[in-house]
Amino acid sequence: MKLKSVVMYESGTEAIAQSGPLADATAAAATAAVVSPEPAVPGEALEIYHLRTPDDFHVHLRQGAAVAAYTQDLAAGFARALVMPNTLPPVATVEDLERYRSQIVEGLGANTPHFQPLMSFKLAPRHDAQAVAALAIGGVKAGKLYPAGVTTNSEDGVRTIESIFPALEAMQEHDIVLCIHGEAPDAFCLDRETAFLSKLETIVTRFPSLRVVLEHLSTADAVRAVRDLPPRVAATITVHHLLLTLDDLIGGELRPHHFCKPVVKTPADRALLREVVLNGESKFFFGSDSAPHTREHKECDCGCAGLYTAPVSLPLLASFFEEHIGTRGLGGRGAVSSYGGSEHAGGGNGNGGGNGSGNGNGEAEAGDGATVHSTAGKAHCPAWVEAMEAFVSRYGAEFYQLPLNTGHLRLERRPWTVPAEYHGVVPFYAGEELQFRALRQY
Ligand code: DOR
Ligand code: ZN
Repeated sequence: MKLKSVVMYESGTEAIAQSGPLADATAAAATAAVVSPEPAVPGEALEIYHLRTPDDFHVHLRQGAAVAAYTQDLAAGFARALVMPNTLPPVATVEDLERYRSQIVEGLGANTPHFQPLMSFKLAPRHDAQAVAALAIGGVKAGKLYPAGVTTNSEDGVRTIESIFPALEAMQEHDIVLCIHGEAPDAFCLDRETAFLSKLETIVTRFPSLRVVLEHLSTADAVRAVRDLPPRVAATITVHHLLLTLDDLIGGELRPHHFCKPVVKTPADRALLREVVLNGESKFFFGSDSAPHTREHKECDCGCAGLYTAPVSLPLLASFFEEHIGTRGLGGRGAVSSYGGSEHAGGGNGNGGGNGSGNGNGEAEAGDGATVHSTAGKAHCPAWVEAMEAFVSRYGAEFYQLPLNTGHLRLERRPWTVPAEYHGVVPFYAGEELQFRALRQY
């Protein structure tokens, strides 16, 4: 059934299209362009999809006053995120970790009360067994390997992988995941990821029970390497590497807001990234690498690498999965999901319905004519919603041995225009129309 797009706003939910309340007046002043809630249009039909609340296994929340705004943008859609440690100075000790975690949690707003930052530390030769043991006790989930000079704030990164072998030994012992920015900085920029793969294999061979995540894959070579390595080696994939190629960066005019590390690659590279995600290969899960830099730091002579995708990643993924998988066939897992989505199948809280009733087919008719498709429904929901759920809400949590989230994300097919800026940062797809809104339900 094809329903027309409508406008409907639900109280008690927060659209990712919006920014949450801001931490301070400076940030508020810089955020003139956020989308304001649109009024409900009673009686118009709405297409709604529910899936388990997602996680983002690679994000940059920065430091200082900006942390609160970036955290709220992210927490509007995600229950948990692995927070990268490349602040200045880096997150390196258990004290740094605890301070940063508290700052992130304190930055949560009234509209985003629940969010769990998963903490990482930046690996350096000084991490001996004792330092790693302290981080393990402090609840660290991952150690991040940045080769020196490879990206933002990595001048103090690792120069030889042998120098961190004692740290990797201790991480293996404490079952702390090794996350890798897998580029060899001295190679030609398009070859850097491929040039790093021999080092990945050295690490995986030398530490036979270390769990490893190769971050933000950008090449077919890296996909094949991860596929061939043991199950304890996985990878994150960003939404921008799924959508862009080098043409979107330099093929026409120069697009600084499409510049990131690793740089987006060829159509053939993107095709294999898409293939593993659309196939539902469980080694490949979502990590946005959402990396905000202010407009001034992007639109200048020496622009920073990074895309701000937190406000748009879920709507973009919904369109990506729908476009490529569509409704061909229905999901076949039946009632496997049990995060409680079905009890909200009347359209969540607020004015989205509330008196819906399941039709035994994974759909529910909300009182106002909205149709809800839920992965937690009794039977089926479109295959693309299940595929998206596996990628954003399941495979990563399983790899990190975390319980699956219990809440749900509500996707509404309801166009909106991405603001020109969030807190002085130009987001991915700024000024363009997206077809879905993602509203995390609390
Ligand atoms: O584009 C990127 N930006 N890639 C990274 O690896 C780091 C990130 C950042 O922190 O700006
Ligand atoms: Zn990153």
